[in-house]
Amino acid sequence: MAKQMISRRFLRIKFRFGEIEWRDPSTKEFGLYIYVPFCRMSCLYCPFYKVYFNERLREKYLEGVKKEAELRGVNGKAVWTYVGGGTPNLLRPEELRNLLSHLSQFVELGEVGMEGNPFEFTSKYLEKIAVAGVSKISVGVESFQAGALRAVKRAYANEKLIENVVKTARGLGLSVNIDLMVGLPRQSREGCVKDVETIASIGPDQVTIYPYIVIPGVKVDPGMRPRLMFDVIEEGWETLKSYGYGRDSIWVFAKGPRIYDTSKEELVRDYFGLGPSTFSTISDLQTVNPPIELWLRSINNSKRPTFHTRLDEESRAWRIFAHELYKLRLNPDVISKLPRKIRAVFSILRITGHVKGLEVTKKEFI
Ligand SMILES: C[S@@+](CC[C@H](N)C(=O)[O-])C[C@H]1O[C@@H](n2cnc3c(N)ncnc32)[C@H](O)[C@@H]1O
Ligand code: SF4
Repeated sequence: MAKQMISRRFLRIKFRFGEIEWRDPSTKEFGLYIYVPFCRMSCLYCPFYKVYFNERLREKYLEGVKKEAELRGVNGKAVWTYVGGGTPNLLRPEELRNLLSHLSQFVELGEVGMEGNPFEFTSKYLEKIAVAGVSKISVGVESFQAGALRAVKRAYANEKLIENVVKTARGLGLSVNIDLMVGLPRQSREGCVKDVETIASIGPDQVTIYPYIVIPGVKVDPGMRPRLMFDVIEEGWETLKSYGYGRDSIWVFAKGPRIYDTSKEELVRDYFGLGPSTFSTISDLQTVNPPIELWLRSINNSKRPTFHTRLDEESRAWRIFAHELYKLRLNPDVISKLPRKIRAVFSILRITGHVKGLEVTKKEFI
């Protein structure tokens, strides 16, 4: 219920395309998201911006990110840093180390998280990124159901491969998240529950079970109704509990405090997104970078072409409320500072049983 209200509210935010100043509003503490747009596969369920990997473009891209950071005045403390995509582990570890060490001249980098596909996270690769300053990784597995992966044109990574990645990475001190998906075509309920069990027995630090989210950009219909997807996630949660996992948010389950969750972080804190097609929110300015060709061309211009909007106080408050619901536990101090209109929604959620006390109930997300 709140989900529909929040999405309606967010849809009202209108982005304009045009040229703006390179320099973002000044801020000393922020999140940092480096978007790596390269992929070797084009998975049909995936709406994220991507271009086919090629060596020449990779070099230009790396120089572009450094230049963009400089032009936008990224300087201060990064409370979180993620290298996301696309497939960031298509970058060479040396390139990643070089990029992080370049940025660390202006930015105090805290924990650095990086995502990627399982095939490129070889033992050698993991050793090198651990030295380069990466401290947590997120690996896309999605499913062990071969028919479903064929239906979405994604390569199959077997259990042995995943076990090696998880064991090697953890042995190097890296915290590991595994992404699973529920609701892909040709996935069965039983198969999804078995996928969760298989991953739990391998034992990464965190498991994320995404429902298949159908938004513009995806190229295949879901294989389950949303209600069933959430039922399966709840069933998966029962399994994960028995393996010692706790629940951090609607679809994130972890054994410890080192959470890998970009969606959660992006809702509450200002952050710079560097690279093509990335979102940023700094103060009241929200921007989305253009695709790679235009982004590269613009790096040498005095102004930057971008989709942009100004967030008003109410939009910012809705973001905070969305974050409270996402993590399934509401903080009374945060709620009490929200505008009256949003507090009224909170009261309605309590009356209708979507929130009980300060906990979001299953009724809200099923
Ligand atoms: C952007 S991908 C990057 C991971 C890496 N490129 C890979 O393929 O392993 C991050 C994760 O987003 C999730 N994802 C992608 N499309 C999704 C969708 N339509 N609905 C839900 N989750 C999705 C998948 O679990 C995927 O592993
Ligand atoms: S899931 Fe990963 S590899 Fe597949 S298209 Fe999306 S970003 Fe690329």
